[in-house]
Amino acid sequence: MTQNTLTLRKPDDWHVHLRDGAMLEFVADFTARQFARAIVMPNLTPPVTTVDQAIAYRDRINAAVPAERGFTPLMTAYLTDTISADEIERGFREGVFTAAKLYPQNATTNSAHGVSDIANIRPVLERMEKLGIPLLVHGEVVSPDIDIFDREAVFLDTVLGPLLKEMPGLRVVLEHITTEHSVEFVKAGSENLAATITAHHLRIDRNDMLVGGIRPHAYCLPVAKRRLHKLALRKAAVSGNPKFFLGTDTAPHERHAKESACGCAGIFSAPVAIESYAQTFEEEGALGKLEGFASEFGPAFYRLPFNEGTITLKRQPTDIPAALEAGDIKIVPFHAGEAMAWRLVED
Ligand code: NCD
Ligand code: ZN
Repeated sequence: MTQNTLTLRKPDDWHVHLRDGAMLEFVADFTARQFARAIVMPNLTPPVTTVDQAIAYRDRINAAVPAERGFTPLMTAYLTDTISADEIERGFREGVFTAAKLYPQNATTNSAHGVSDIANIRPVLERMEKLGIPLLVHGEVVSPDIDIFDREAVFLDTVLGPLLKEMPGLRVVLEHITTEHSVEFVKAGSENLAATITAHHLRIDRNDMLVGGIRPHAYCLPVAKRRLHKLALRKAAVSGNPKFFLGTDTAPHERHAKESACGCAGIFSAPVAIESYAQTFEEEGALGKLEGFASEFGPAFYRLPFNEGTITLKRQPTDIPAALEAGDIKIVPFHAGEAMAWRLVED
């Protein structure tokens, strides 16, 4: 018998870009309506590198979300070459920083202040290892001589692999994995290593981006790889292995910034996130595995309690609009122009 409703323990999103200002006002509730908590990326301009900046940003997020949602933003520190271990420790002890984010310098949107060489943040990483503060990793090398489709694999082989050997106690989330190699790397790692998987990398491969015309709304970083990698990600996501959990990497950019001669990287998946994962899990015959992936494995890794409430999805074909607009802002969401099978029931 076809299942027509799906009730899940309230999920969390372990990787979001909520931006700031008018964009924050526009996008925050798309996340808050379905997720109880979200790990908020710190790649603002300027980046969130201090406890005070994180508190102020958290206040702006809370002001942008209707209070009745009961949404909790979990803040992260943006690691730079010069950030101090004391600042990270203070933020963690004060309950402001849940984690710290490693952007290799110039790897992605707003990463110009990122880390140019991991050796520069060694004392910070040692402190994080000691205190059990999760390190969230954008796992790509940036050398111009490395092909963009190989940047994740080379990062694992030349940076993350050696780092984990030297600091086996460091708790690491390899964010938005895109390859079979990463799946195997995470599976083979210790219990201190986990990974997030986005909704879009479970559905898009590089053909979706490049065949029949260049499709800027399918462009994100790390860039989608060959189909076989997408299939490996799908298998990992539905496997029930708690090392793999939900992190959308919803990354809104205005339509004009994506539809450009030099379009920005990022896919705005928040308006359709849980529905998209549900569709993928159902296609894999694994709807029963969604709750672990979306609502349990993340908090277990972060050592946070499970959420108490639930959300319900209904089988109800729903057309996703070609664009979403608020004031001057126009954004094309993931699944734009498609009909989706599931719909989140709003109370
Ligand atoms: C993100 C963004 O726009 O901030 N873009 C993306 O393609 N994922 C940055 C990031 O997570 O790499
Ligand atoms: Zn991201």
